[in-house]
Amino acid sequence: MNTKRIFTFVAGILLSCAGTILASTQNDSIINKMHADSVKTGKTLYANNCVRCHKLKDPVKYTRAQWPGLVNEMQKRSKITDEQKALILSYLMTEAKKEK
Ligand code: HEC
Repeated sequence: MNTKRIFTFVAGILLSCAGTILASTQNDSIINKMHADSVKTGKTLYANNCVRCHKLKDPVKYTRAQWPGLVNEMQKRSKITDEQKALILSYLMTEAKKEK
């Protein structure tokens, strides 16, 4: 799953909640705000769901390319929903190690 698809997926969840307002005023700043909100929610979900078995892994330990596979594996252990996974990934991939 690439970043764009995850972002689209997260944006879709948020849009379904706020569809009417967004439909008339959608623009880049709203998209940016939505992204920032997703990252913030994702960070909270990460802290709440991913610390039960081990310390929280620093997001910069892995690249954007690595996080989706890792979180897919951990989804089986932590019983998070696909929506929660997408939000957690929006946080981890935003903070991830930069690829050259
Ligand atoms: C039920 C226990 C459990 C939960 C909950 C859990 N993990 Fe893990 N995690 C493990 C274990 C055990 C390992 C040790 C390495 C392995 O077995 O792959 C691990 C390893 C990891 C690694 C390192 C993998 C590697 O190859 O170095 C990452 C990254 C990780 N977890 C992320 C997460 C994230 C993100 C979440 C929340 C979505 C999460 N974990 C929730 C048990 C858990």
